[in-house]
Amino acid sequence: MNDFKPGLEGVVAFQTEIAEPDREGGALRYRGVDIEELVGEVPYEKVWGLLVDENLEPGMPDPEPYEPASLTGSAPSDLQAETARLGAVWELEKLVDIDAKDARDDLARLSAQMMSIVAKSAAVHDGRDPAPDDVVAQGETAAEKFLLRWRGEADPRHVKAIDTYWICTAEHGLNASTFTARITASTGADCAAAMSAAVGALSGPLHGGAPARVLPMLDAVAASGDPAGYVKDLLDKHGRIMGFGHRIYRAEDPRSRILKRTAKELGSPRMEVAEALEEAALAALVERKPDYVIATNVEFYSAVVLDLAEVPPDLTPAMFACARVAGWAAHILEEKRTGRLIRPSAEYIGPSSRSLSAV
Ligand code: COA
Repeated sequence: MNDFKPGLEGVVAFQTEIAEPDREGGALRYRGVDIEELVGEVPYEKVWGLLVDENLEPGMPDPEPYEPASLTGSAPSDLQAETARLGAVWELEKLVDIDAKDARDDLARLSAQMMSIVAKSAAVHDGRDPAPDDVVAQGETAAEKFLLRWRGEADPRHVKAIDTYWICTAEHGLNASTFTARITASTGADCAAAMSAAVGALSGPLHGGAPARVLPMLDAVAASGDPAGYVKDLLDKHGRIMGFGHRIYRAEDPRSRILKRTAKELGSPRMEVAEALEEAALAALVERKPDYVIATNVEFYSAVVLDLAEVPPDLTPAMFACARVAGWAAHILEEKRTGRLIRPSAEYIGPSSRSLSAV
């Protein structure tokens, strides 16, 4: 086994029909449709339908009435625990024992409820009671209802910011959390177990939480007024500029393009500093790495857009989870169709056979 790849980089584990980043063209398409066509045209819940059902209609439903057992106000762990609990409360059947239609319906009600759990957990974090259902029902889209549930009000600029962020990050091929969801689904577990496992994988800073690391950079540049000096210092110390570079894209990340446009349209007060830092970072990275394309990635302007919507940095992984319920649900269904237990091999490189007394 001499083809071992740390981190499985470049290893093709699945074939998928859901979405794939177009590495060279810098585009991202869901079921063949460029996300540029979706943003501002259809709300997130219809994009959920496109990804899961390959049809905008009916899309993700509204959440059904449900009272979480006990929320701590720490959204990622509340979401993971409550999602797992739904498997028991709703008596969900194992994926191996149900047909694709029933699995799809389980995933639809789970997706909607997961958004509601995050909104309620965010309210608890803020020391508020989540808004009652009649207030939430006044909202038109999933993003508006989410904000109403969390804050009791929904500023239209915040709604647009969150809807755009959710659409841009709804699905992105085989990342760590999606892989986790598929592995769990391949064992025949119920949909709640697969979704909850994915939330756990997303709670680490290397996958879900990077926007939180961009804002301190923007604060530092705003304070010094010297973006080129900030970048030079960081690179001289072999630091990485957060929000730049990507394992897959060798062109501009299309999500970054859309989020930047949205931040501008909505009048983000951080825009001037963000653009100055972006310009300085790209210039320095080209100079130092002329043969390796390092462009702005999704995290940089996600941070600006979520900040504009007044989402606190510690809530960003859970906001990412809300977006990714569509991708996870689509992959869990695709995995169910494949129906083959995921069980790769490990190359043993430990001690050769020896007696207990030698230890
Ligand atoms: N700032 C400074 N240097 C960077 C960089 C960044 N953001 N991204 C890559 N590089 C440099 C590395 O230091 C490395 O240089 P070296 O060969 O002299 O050691 C070279 O580019 C290749 O880095 P590598 O980590 O192998 O490239 P990758 O394409 O696999 O990396 C990331 C992808 C995302 C891990 C990387 O770009 C990164 O760490 N970015 C910053 C964190 C971030 O924004 N994460 C969110 C990603 S969506």
